[in-house]
Amino acid sequence: MTERISTLYTAAEIAVRVAALGVQIARDFEGQRIVLVCVLKGSFVFTADLARAIDGNVRCEFLGVQSYGEGTESSGVVQITQDLTRSVENEHVILVEDIVDTGLTIAHLLELFRTRRPASVKVCALLHKPARTRVEVPIDYLGFTIDDKFVVGYGLDFNQRYRNLPFIGVVEQD
Ligand code: PRP
Repeated sequence: MTERISTLYTAAEIAVRVAALGVQIARDFEGQRIVLVCVLKGSFVFTADLARAIDGNVRCEFLGVQSYGEGTESSGVVQITQDLTRSVENEHVILVEDIVDTGLTIAHLLELFRTRRPASVKVCALLHKPARTRVEVPIDYLGFTIDDKFVVGYGLDFNQRYRNLPFIGVVEQD
């Protein structure tokens, strides 16, 4: 089956927002070291671009998470499938997410990271879908607020496909 995909944000529009987020983060953490925690899989493209947009002292960690839910809805029960390779104790952590949907995943990860004793934890999300909020979570750095549409591309998938699209698109239901 082939889906129809319409463009929501072009690669150029995304690049402008990501550059602005990078400037904002670099300014907020001037003179400090940052750990970008890429929440896999969806955030790999965003994290790669964001890391290069930050003019500062950055290291990257990758966190594999799997959320068990019904259909497309996450349950908040998040299993860590791949943990960090180094401690983040006393470091400034930024959790990097492609999308905050219900908020359950980030809420769980914020709880988890509290036990890891970082100096601080912030959240950076490229997309936020407020219509689906089930738990309010702080989003310190946000790319775009979107409507309740199924989006793909720039790391986001539909049945594991379309992560490679350079733009963000909406899957049109026929
Ligand atoms: C997506 C996204 C977030 C989560 C957000 O991951 O990357 O981790 O869902 O949803 P929530 O706010 O409702 O918890 P997904 O489960 O699709 O896995 P993936 O990143 O591997 O594609």
